[in-house]
Amino acid sequence: MHFLKHFSPELVVKSPGRINLIGEHTDYNMGYVLPTAIEKNIKFSLQKNGSDHHCNVYSRTYDTGFEIDLNKISVSRVEWENYILGVLYEISKISNELGGFDCIVASNLPTGSGLSSSAALECGLAFGLNELFGLGLTKLQLVQLSQTAEHTYVGTQCGIMDQFASVMSKAGHVIMLDCRSLKYDYIPIDLFPYRIILLNTKVSHNLASSEYNTRKEECEQGVAIIRKQFPQVDSLRDVNQSMLEECKNNLSQKVYLRCKFIIAENERVIKMAKALKEKDLPTLGGLLYEAHEGISEQYEVSCKESDFLVAFSKKNSNVLGARQTGGGFGGCTLNIVHQDAVLEFIESASKSYKDKFGIQLEAFEVKPSGGTSKLSNSVG
Ligand code: GLA
Repeated sequence: MHFLKHFSPELVVKSPGRINLIGEHTDYNMGYVLPTAIEKNIKFSLQKNGSDHHCNVYSRTYDTGFEIDLNKISVSRVEWENYILGVLYEISKISNELGGFDCIVASNLPTGSGLSSSAALECGLAFGLNELFGLGLTKLQLVQLSQTAEHTYVGTQCGIMDQFASVMSKAGHVIMLDCRSLKYDYIPIDLFPYRIILLNTKVSHNLASSEYNTRKEECEQGVAIIRKQFPQVDSLRDVNQSMLEECKNNLSQKVYLRCKFIIAENERVIKMAKALKEKDLPTLGGLLYEAHEGISEQYEVSCKESDFLVAFSKKNSNVLGARQTGGGFGGCTLNIVHQDAVLEFIESASKSYKDKFGIQLEAFEVKPSGGTSKLSNSVG
């Protein structure tokens, strides 16, 4: 791409991936979530190029790029381009201040690993363009337009958690987000002497073509049936276990189990917030194992590789709790491991996993980190 020869960025932005401590698939059911950003991120180097509507985007990570005419944005056949195009499309719906720009993207965030590289890509670009062109959009607008971009251009009917975590996270904290009201609190997370270790199964998921949208539909089917008996119900957030039991005979076994998981998972988020505040680490660990069981058996968004790693952790007394994090069907398991046992844990888990599946897993520690931010600039 020509622009690379005379590229001199005016602005560098980093946008992080996230983990979710607990509260999986509760976001699009209007419930609670407890995510936080991690240090792994995507960097965007940006410059205006003086044209009205000609843009260049190049990915250093994949050594590939594409050109965009802002007046002719449409869905691409190349998946990663749609995250960019979707954001540009959504911004141009609410602002006419965008102009031509050049952008280099570089990532150390593994894709398809449940750490939300999608939201990092969307939010980093939205945040960067907001700064570069002085669009005046609020952080919440950036979050919401990025989520919509994923619906319209990528095709995943995701909730708001990932984009919210990517933009709004604060170092040393998790965000307790109410996905209905969008009210949130930062809860300090102190796990000492334990560390958060991620094990990447290397089983990659693709939410758009996976069962993600089907799960959302199954929850909606549940709500439609429950509402016949309880007209005040708008989402599974409004349903408790006893209401669900009353409706059980009208629900298919599958939809019943999906709803049961969401209701219990939502309650677990509240219990987890309490455990964090009281630094009750055994309860925290127990909730993670309990959540994974639901993820695997009731919501059925796990896979044999994630189940294997969580079961492996359960046998190790130096691990307080573990579960698959993120949208599901692979990606990473999150493990709360005693600091003195981290190396031994990683070695033994890697060996067993390799023996079982022939896959070399990737293991790394994560620390709750800050959200999307400017690294350097000559703008504003
Ligand atoms: C994906 C989606 C989120 C959320 C999680 C599951 O990461 O993007 O909105 O639904 O799955 O908790």
